Amino acid sequence: LGVFDSGLGGLTVVRALLDQCPGESIVYLGDTARVPYGTRSAETVIRYARRCAAQLMLSNIKALVVACNTASAVAVDMLRVEFDLPVVGVIEPGARAALRVLQARPELQNAPVGVLGTQGTVRSGAYPRAMAQLSTRYEVYGQAAPLLVPLVEEGWLDGDVPRLAIRRYLEPLIAARVRVIVLGCTHYPLLKPLIQNVAEELASEPVVIVDSARATAEAVDALLSEGKIPRSRSGSVTERLSLMVTDLPESFQASAARFLGRGAPKALQVDLSADA
Ligand code: DGL
Repeated sequence: LGVFDSGLGGLTVVRALLDQCPGESIVYLGDTARVPYGTRSAETVIRYARRCAAQLMLSNIKALVVACNTASAVAVDMLRVEFDLPVVGVIEPGARAALRVLQARPELQNAPVGVLGTQGTVRSGAYPRAMAQLSTRYEVYGQAAPLLVPLVEEGWLDGDVPRLAIRRYLEPLIAARVRVIVLGCTHYPLLKPLIQNVAEELASEPVVIVDSARATAEAVDALLSEGKIPRSRSGSVTERLSLMVTDLPESFQASAARFLGRGAPKALQVDLSADA
């Protein structure tokens, strides 16, 4: 399976894939030379996504997982047309996971859904569209939270700075009576405990935080079970995962284990820069 993101965030999806799809090996590409994607135009993100996919194709992948909401929001359709293999994005699984929560909780039936994401993801309207395809019942409010990506890349997961930034981003959502918040960026799950804590402090009642990593791994597992992707039988976790980055590997390497929840293999630096 080929998996890419702008940086470290997609490793939250890799972690879920390693757990959910035993036997599958994963080649991960973090486009650390171009992170963040979320502040760039759709045209630029599409160009980056095309280069990432082309790089992963060199590893003979059988399916592509776009472990980045920003790229999923604007580039998945293009990737499906241009690359002859199954392509799974994170937005549709994220919307499904939110719907599951809403349907299981009658008290949330009329509550709006909040989506925290990058500027690119929020601007694209991809989450409201994905939710509307599943059910027209729910209003969706997007909130761009651009500072959270660099905080996560730097490993600032707790303390005053992330707490204040999260508070500023959550205030309008909580004021709009949002009680279910989708983490519409694969970097944000590392801040999940803090986001939950601040949201509940602001709301003075429980708030459900949904992340799409597990739902995305389930979508891949469903394709494996349906035979749409052939199953593999690889060995141990270390044999099953290889990591590539587009800038110096050191800081990525230092944080990778935290995202993966297990030891990380050595990341290899690759150059995609022919046209970027
Ligand atoms: N982790 C990515 C996402 O889900 C990208 C964040 C960024 O590069 O801005 O949107």
